[in-house]
Amino acid sequence: MKIGGFYGKIKKVIRMNNMKTLYNECLGCEKCPLGKTRTNLVFGCGNPKADILFIGEGPGEQEDLQGEPFVGKSGQLLDKYLQVIDLDRKKNIYIANMVKCRPKNNRDPKPEEIEMCIGWLRSQVRLLRPKIIVCLGRIAAQRLISPDFRVTREHGEFYEKNGVYMMGTFHPAALLRNPAQKSEALEDFQRLREKIRELNLPLSGTTPSCTPTDSPP
Ligand code: URA
Repeated sequence: MKIGGFYGKIKKVIRMNNMKTLYNECLGCEKCPLGKTRTNLVFGCGNPKADILFIGEGPGEQEDLQGEPFVGKSGQLLDKYLQVIDLDRKKNIYIANMVKCRPKNNRDPKPEEIEMCIGWLRSQVRLLRPKIIVCLGRIAAQRLISPDFRVTREHGEFYEKNGVYMMGTFHPAALLRNPAQKSEALEDFQRLREKIRELNLPLSGTTPSCTPTDSPP
């Protein structure tokens, strides 16, 4: 085994353990009322050594039931876009949300819920140290890129923030409601693929991993 591969494996194990510790801390979070009405915590999923982080809004019904982000209809659409550019949610990306517990009736998370939850996301970013962050939809893009971010105007553009390239694109649920925007979303994913090439990010898959506990909570 090459030295780089060996250290890469160790790094993955360390990050996986740190992510599991963070997950266990997050399980007991009572910072906002959403924790009381959720079925499962939807902490995040993917490869903890990934260079690319996708961030959505918050869990919907299926995600709440399964404890994993983007597993409902919008998740299926997201998987298709990922596949087109050779990304795999279990191998070479990590997916998280602005809030880790489901807001009932699929409403948008409230700004105060996002503020109470964002510390968990910050800790995840600190552990992952992603090179690229993709914001899925307005809620993530306005909180993480710019408060006046308009998805229809600025989707697909990269902004560099502290050495991290950030891009906002359409939320898959919005694409399901408005399929006319699907081709623009596809272009955004192709721009993401170009950025990955430009930054020379290795996309080789590692052992598939998903929830930090290795089994749904
Ligand atoms: N929508 C989101 O923003 N996140 C999910 O995990 C599922 C649907």
